[in-house]
Amino acid sequence: MKKILSVVGARPNFMKVAPIHRAFQRYSPEIEHSIVHTGQHYDTKMSDTFFQDLDMPEPAVFLGIGSGSHAVQTAKVMVEFEKVCESMRPDIVIVVGDVNSTVGCSLVSVKMGIPTAHVEAGLRSFDRAMPEEINRLATDAICDYWFVTEQSGIDELRKQGAPENNIFFVGNTMIDSLHYALPKAKKLQFINELGLTEKNYALITMHRPSNVDEPEQLRTLLVMLAELTQQRDIIFPVHPRTRKNIEIFGLSDIIDSHPRMHLIDPQGYITFLHLMMNADFVMTDSGGVQEETTALGVPCLTIRTTTERPITTTLGTNILVQPNPDNIRQALYTMVSQPRKSGQIPPLWDGKAAERIAEIIHNLL
Ligand code: UD1
Ligand code: UDP
Repeated sequence: MKKILSVVGARPNFMKVAPIHRAFQRYSPEIEHSIVHTGQHYDTKMSDTFFQDLDMPEPAVFLGIGSGSHAVQTAKVMVEFEKVCESMRPDIVIVVGDVNSTVGCSLVSVKMGIPTAHVEAGLRSFDRAMPEEINRLATDAICDYWFVTEQSGIDELRKQGAPENNIFFVGNTMIDSLHYALPKAKKLQFINELGLTEKNYALITMHRPSNVDEPEQLRTLLVMLAELTQQRDIIFPVHPRTRKNIEIFGLSDIIDSHPRMHLIDPQGYITFLHLMMNADFVMTDSGGVQEETTALGVPCLTIRTTTERPITTTLGTNILVQPNPDNIRQALYTMVSQPRKSGQIPPLWDGKAAERIAEIIHNLL
């Protein structure tokens, strides 16, 4: 029997790993697939809820790392994950995405001589001020196998000199989860419970340090949203980083004085999908949400200087908006007053990416 360990740590990892876990069940008992949760995210609404929504089993191992500076968090992940690899001796480790748990675990497994695969490899924002860009560069530089979601990823890995035979264009496992959960999301009544109807509200998520760690930038964003409430209700499930900063920077008054600004807790995956599919449009700085809105055909404004997911802008419904007041105001005005950009589904975003990954890894072992 061959042992595979997949690592999850933060919110976007769960959607990427759940379909991989399901796909490997086909190869049981020849292959045993286990999930290691670093505990980078730990609130029920940032972690446990996704195991239920995505029908994932409890993680085989929970490292309980929690929050900390980049160095502290990554170092703790490494110390604890090394013990797991020593005791479990996996035949392959799978890391996904670009969070600190991704780079920490890949460093450990590669140095222990364990073949290591990166899912969602090759994406680049070319912005080294983003912690995720450093994590992507470092992880891709050391991994043995690269599973890619879009053509830009293949191009970057080739430039980096990754051996062609170990680059696999498989599609997007996050979109596998979307296909899996959509029937349940369609049945929810949550927007009606909020007093809203289909396509009459904007959905917002914001958590990138560049947008929410600077008081002036966060104020600007909230003021833009307050202005938008003249046209639309807004639903804003607030990430804990953002929630903390709204309080520390004393910005709650902007929200309290605008009744059509509905700030709510982070939502479970199925509820969030329900909110996305019924939104008039989405404004975000999330990586995953850019892809999901493209898959759903829902218009999306991404408030960032760059995107590591260019296919969502070239083929999908995503529009990149430079994060300053004039550009954001103009983009919102255009969104509510003019015809929308239509999009297409990117190649291989068909709900079967994880099956391709499982088959390839099965053949490699
Ligand atoms: C992390 C990832 C980011 C990803 C995001 C997804 C890194 C460097 N960043 O950012 O790429 O887009 O997750 O959501 O890996 N907190 C809680 N409860 C939790 C988790 C976090 O209260 O369950 C608060 C803590 O105050 C913590 C802060 O949020 O200090 C930031 O958490 P952290 O994991 O360091 O980074 P994220 O901003 O969540
Ligand atoms: N998401 C969710 N609930 C929320 C906000 C987001 O389930 O309240 C999901 C979203 O659908 C996507 C993932 O979380 O699948 C994206 O995670 P996040 O934006 O935290 O991280 P990023 O993709 O930016 O790294």
